[in-house]
Amino acid sequence: MCGIYGYIGKLDAYDEVFKGLKLLQYRGYDSCGIAYYDNGIKTIKAVGPLNNLKKPKILCNLAFGHTRWATNGEVNLFNTHPHSSFDNKFFVVHNGIINNASELKNTILKDVPFSSQTDTEVVVNLLSVLKGDIDERVKSLFNYLTGSYALIIGYDDTIYVLKKFSPINILKNDKGIYISSDIASLESGELCQLKDYSIFKIKDNDIINLSDVKADFVPYVNDIEKLNLGNFSHFMQKEIYETPAAIRSTYNNIKNINFYDCVKNIKKITLVGCGTAYHSCLIGCELFKELGYEVDCVLASNLIVNGRVGRNHLHIIVSQSGETADCIKIAEQIKKQRGKILVITNEPKSTITKFANKIITTKANKEIAVASTKTYSCQVFTFAYFCHKLKDANYHLDIETFEKNLKDYISNIDISTLAEMLKNKDKMIMIAKDIDYLTILEASLKIREIDYVYTLPMYSGELKHGTLSLVDSDSIVLSLNTDNDKSKLNNAINEIESRGGSVVKMENYILAENIDNFYKTIYSIIPFQLLSYEIAIKKQLNPDMPRNLAKSVTVE
Ligand code: M6R
Repeated sequence: MCGIYGYIGKLDAYDEVFKGLKLLQYRGYDSCGIAYYDNGIKTIKAVGPLNNLKKPKILCNLAFGHTRWATNGEVNLFNTHPHSSFDNKFFVVHNGIINNASELKNTILKDVPFSSQTDTEVVVNLLSVLKGDIDERVKSLFNYLTGSYALIIGYDDTIYVLKKFSPINILKNDKGIYISSDIASLESGELCQLKDYSIFKIKDNDIINLSDVKADFVPYVNDIEKLNLGNFSHFMQKEIYETPAAIRSTYNNIKNINFYDCVKNIKKITLVGCGTAYHSCLIGCELFKELGYEVDCVLASNLIVNGRVGRNHLHIIVSQSGETADCIKIAEQIKKQRGKILVITNEPKSTITKFANKIITTKANKEIAVASTKTYSCQVFTFAYFCHKLKDANYHLDIETFEKNLKDYISNIDISTLAEMLKNKDKMIMIAKDIDYLTILEASLKIREIDYVYTLPMYSGELKHGTLSLVDSDSIVLSLNTDNDKSKLNNAINEIESRGGSVVKMENYILAENIDNFYKTIYSIIPFQLLSYEIAIKKQLNPDMPRNLAKSVTVE
């Protein structure tokens, strides 16, 4: 997690880094800080988002900064990056985890004073304790530090960039040299995606490769729409409304894929993801099952790759960011076993794609809000279109009509009154059956993460086997039934209402008819996404940055 960004060049480095970090805040926003060169390196830090930083009254040409998602150590200024060495000579920002930090603190660094609880501080203190040439000290870090790390280290007017397992990139253009943990935050220019064990030294205009790892700078054009809210109040809201266009772009990107080839000779499919991506895998799993495939679906954090992966076994890993550590770890293990991997991601240059035999890119454009919305729908769409094509190679989708219908549908949903009614509830039960149950799994995640409400999704038939004891006259239950048989949930609803609980039938908000079965869940999730957004607004919560979370979970 955490975003790191650096700049050396002719523009004001503080401003450049501040702008870059703004684009990385989705990686964490517990606290932030910027180191800048002004006759020596100085730092400025704040708890909370970037706007809390007070810009120094100087212009500088070198700066690097960090936006933090707390892992080691609570959220406070001491634990905020950049960290400096005890003698104030070395400065560092870090994304990843140093696994042997305590060990180093108890051995080589046992006499050194530490001022934070972080693992990161060992990097700079180690550099100060080591003897000899600075380049050599930096190079030796790989021998000392275990774990995963992308580091920007500052020493006087020089920057060092190191990579082991966590992503980091360097870009040069006519404005200067940029460093970022996320390509999408970079402008156009010559880009180098650092490989593991790379070390670069950057001073003035020079980028020097200090390692033996090969580095290629290739032309890069950033065509990603930068942060722009348009007429919307929040990115989450904007992104929900962007769903139809995102699906259309995804369709344009995948329409010519030979899906049959993707599963040729495949006897077993395992779908893997985390969080929302896992929920889209669950939908994919149902669709593949309907076609008769042997398929299962596993949370990346729960999958154990034991022994050899058969040549006829395909793993489809879904990850919006392509940087989720749990997914990358699995991809690595499958690759080691020479298993086949198909990655579905919104970030075709992300780390996970390096392990893929095939990549399918959803073209949702950048998703800034922490909650996945349009990317979920694009993932589900990809599975649905994939399965349609497997079922019938001549299948044709009229995408213009599809986009238009979905757009009309979303703009007609009015969930505000319901949000007002639910805004003070601190618990909700959700019930459904069949594929609707998979939708409420995702729906309940949205309401938990954005509104801080305990939500309990369950199969309606299970209610009477225990959970009904929770129901009283204060209970609110959201039910979802998109089946033609409108009475499917009646028993459960009667059981709730007989105990004084209230039931909201969410299908009443799905004002669309004749939806193709494969695409149905794209329609059913949207009222829930809008509901979670509206409740957050009514509770005066920031839906784009829910507490304790970050967009990319790059730690296991
Ligand atoms: O980038 P990924 O799709 O791999 O992220 C996986 C989850 O962390 C993510 O889907 C998360 O659950 C959502 N942001 C929740 O809305």
